[in-house]
Amino acid sequence: MKGLKVSLKDAQRTKEILHANGLMADCKAIKEGSFLIFPVKTAANAKKLVKNSEVVEKKFEKIEKSKTLRGILEKKLTKNELDMLKTSFDVVGTIAILEVEKEMEKKEKVLAESLLKINPRIKTVLKKEGGHGGEFRVQRMRFLAGDDTRETIHRENGIQLKINVETVYFSSRLSTERKRIAELVKPNEKVLVMFSGAGPYVCVIAKKTNAKDVVGVEINPEGHRYAVENLLLNKINNARLYLGDVKEIIPKLNEKFDRILMPLPKSAEDFLDTALSASKKGTIVHFYDFLEEKDIPQKAVEKIESACKRNKMKCKILHYVKCGQNAPRNYRVCVDFEVE
Ligand SMILES: C[S@@+](CC[C@H](N)C(=O)[O-])C[C@H]1O[C@@H](n2cnc3c(N)ncnc32)[C@H](O)[C@@H]1O
Repeated sequence: MKGLKVSLKDAQRTKEILHANGLMADCKAIKEGSFLIFPVKTAANAKKLVKNSEVVEKKFEKIEKSKTLRGILEKKLTKNELDMLKTSFDVVGTIAILEVEKEMEKKEKVLAESLLKINPRIKTVLKKEGGHGGEFRVQRMRFLAGDDTRETIHRENGIQLKINVETVYFSSRLSTERKRIAELVKPNEKVLVMFSGAGPYVCVIAKKTNAKDVVGVEINPEGHRYAVENLLLNKINNARLYLGDVKEIIPKLNEKFDRILMPLPKSAEDFLDTALSASKKGTIVHFYDFLEEKDIPQKAVEKIESACKRNKMKCKILHYVKCGQNAPRNYRVCVDFEVE
């Protein structure tokens, strides 16, 4: 059977892409050194969707039908419905958040209950109602099955995060990106996390690096409240959190930072002047943006360069990564640059 071989660091993202496109076969993945090989239904399509992957021939072990979502659903859905089924869902702690396509809406309860059966870790199934919106970038959810709650404790990168998935922004898909940033942090750095939400970046950096001081600023009072709780939950004492608009808090702080994170891709551009005001020579800024494939990374670089020009500063673009997909052919991109 054909398999798709990717490095371990790309495994989570690959798994999400294969599931979202209905390409994962019902077999167990195989670990080979620092690579993971996923069983795939159509190797050519899978390879096209996953960058830096290789198609290999392998013998995969079958997963018992009663333990796969498709296996359970075989008895509950028609052949046509099964063919349409693309099981895209995120897991945050004990909550699964489903995206259900229009044609499958009448089967969403069956889908949700089947999810509870195959994964004992999942206690609640919710459904996304629309995209992220408003200043707080939150998303409405509808209860489908299990325990009717929106609050859970999520584990990633060696930290725990208590979150309400409806009142605070959080994406479990960004764990690899948080790890990437944490791995760049050098001992004794002073790090500013703008738009810190419930504190995932703050907690991972404060807990997993030797940063001296990590500062988070968040405007959503619920997000800030969870972030404060998460510092306690993770026994973190090298971080400070502020509730309010970064445009008001940062000038008041009047501090300079070694590293600044700007994880608000929808409008980070509007906050570049504020980030630059807290920068000094050598500060590294991680600027997030949503870009069409054809504009990566130029459109973000133009925004950065024009902000630097406005502020009579110079910068050097270091690197960029695609760290998520927002819509078909529209990606979340992070451009890392250094202030000179
Ligand atoms: C995309 S979310 C990222 C949250 C968090 N960093 C994470 O990765 O889970 C952006 C966050 O920025 C916050 N936000 C939006 N405008 C803000 C502002 N002017 N000042 C501070 N926070 C803001 C929102 O409430 C939201 O929590």
